[in-house]
Amino acid sequence: MRNQLWQRKPVEHFEIEMKESKLKRVLGKWGLTSLGIGAIIGAGIFVMTGVGAKEYAGPALALSFVVAGIGCTFAALCFAEFASFLPVEGSAYAYSYATMGELFAWIIGWDLILEYGMGASAVAVGWSGYLAKFLHLFDIKFPIWLMNDVFTAKEMIAEATSKGTLTDLANKYSSLDFPSIFGIDLAANVPAFFIIWVLTAILVRGIKHASSTNNLMVAIKVAVVLFIIVLGVQYINPENWDPFIPKRTTFTDSLGGTHGAFGFLGIISGAAYIFFAYIGFDTVSTHAGESKNPQKDVPFGIITSLIVTTVLYILVALVLTGMVNYKDIDVTAPIAAAFGAHGLSFAVFIISLAAIAGLTSVSIVMLLGQSRVFYAISKDGLLPKKTFGEVHPVFRTPWKANILIGVVVSLVSAFTPIEGISKMVNIGTLLAFVMVSAAVWIMRKKEPDRPRPFRAPAIWFVAPMGILFNLGMMLTLEWQNWLRLVVWLLIGFSIYFFYGKKHSVMAQRLKEKNGNVEN
Ligand code: ALA
Repeated sequence: MRNQLWQRKPVEHFEIEMKESKLKRVLGKWGLTSLGIGAIIGAGIFVMTGVGAKEYAGPALALSFVVAGIGCTFAALCFAEFASFLPVEGSAYAYSYATMGELFAWIIGWDLILEYGMGASAVAVGWSGYLAKFLHLFDIKFPIWLMNDVFTAKEMIAEATSKGTLTDLANKYSSLDFPSIFGIDLAANVPAFFIIWVLTAILVRGIKHASSTNNLMVAIKVAVVLFIIVLGVQYINPENWDPFIPKRTTFTDSLGGTHGAFGFLGIISGAAYIFFAYIGFDTVSTHAGESKNPQKDVPFGIITSLIVTTVLYILVALVLTGMVNYKDIDVTAPIAAAFGAHGLSFAVFIISLAAIAGLTSVSIVMLLGQSRVFYAISKDGLLPKKTFGEVHPVFRTPWKANILIGVVVSLVSAFTPIEGISKMVNIGTLLAFVMVSAAVWIMRKKEPDRPRPFRAPAIWFVAPMGILFNLGMMLTLEWQNWLRLVVWLLIGFSIYFFYGKKHSVMAQRLKEKNGNVEN
């Protein structure tokens, strides 16, 4: 007798589903690596490096990238083992279903919504910042209230006032005034809202040739990141790195919250913040069903894409903080602004254009990942299939799920500062990484003899370190993020107990087979 909550989905069920899968196996190891890099390089490096240096780590941001990179490497090795062992769609959600039971799987699936859905919001906000920078090159300007959420707009004005740079800010926008209703100032990030709807429409229609477009995007992004490093190095002023680790102090962010900044702890909390930049390598595992040789190539894709991006990130962080003093870094489009500050308009043009294209591709991968997770969960009966799993008769896409995701994600992008959204994404994803690290270890104990084409080396070290590093980063995020995570999980629990538990396909199958699952 076994309670349904802890009942693991038998690996044989996955094997049946894999055989039934209609996905074509077309991806090789470099195709998978390219998908990984395409999902990884985005708002994290192009946008969040600004806040990361200015509010958390200063020039030591490069060390934050090292810390976050190490945490991700441990988790990546665990993801890679799982992907080789269970090469199915659904990623961490599916892995936990097989190892820790239905309730844990649901929690992870619910948590992945934060990673993908909210991740897409954060990237859209970053996209909007670079769009503004790009248009500004042609002297096209909009009012501040049309390009930013109200918190960010007010913070920018307050900062410019205190630094005496209000004229510079006024130059970037056609107006710094806000419309208001009943004395409440209104503002919305309209471009971010708009791009989410354009991408949603594309996803509803279905994307063809996604893989070749992705390869092109990856080539552009990597080329531009190399361009940033090679050109930027020539404008480094080593005085900007002094002190490399500024003295610890406090910082007030755009939401009015105060947090500790700089010093050794600042490097760790900076890591928890720019961790966002690494999110995406795990999406390689969601393509296991389309890979020619998933057991070998998925681990290769995960690890190679992570290594490449880690090296690039550390170099970009050094270049950025060397080019501009961390106190003066722009938070909406930091990299382009750093080149702008040196009068390199052509570089601003290239970087902004590449960031706009690159962030568009990350955002679409995230929206797509979100609808895949919904699809996988609804296939298992834990969410209503009619809404989340229904495929459009003509376009063959989960259109209802896409539209629902579009509504929520576009509204969040329009009204929330990027800092708040990205921390929510980070805490959710870090939790998923902790659980995957634990799950791989549990599985080694529970099913030691099952074939594992890729085995994480020294699992007794890698799995606990994956848990420690990622949990450590979670712990440096402010309590408000924990509170939001707990509320999110409570909503998830309610949905599971009111709906999912009763409609679970696995429980039904096992009941039919041996009639001994407790409800
Ligand atoms: N790592 C992705 C980005 O930085 C999510 O945009």
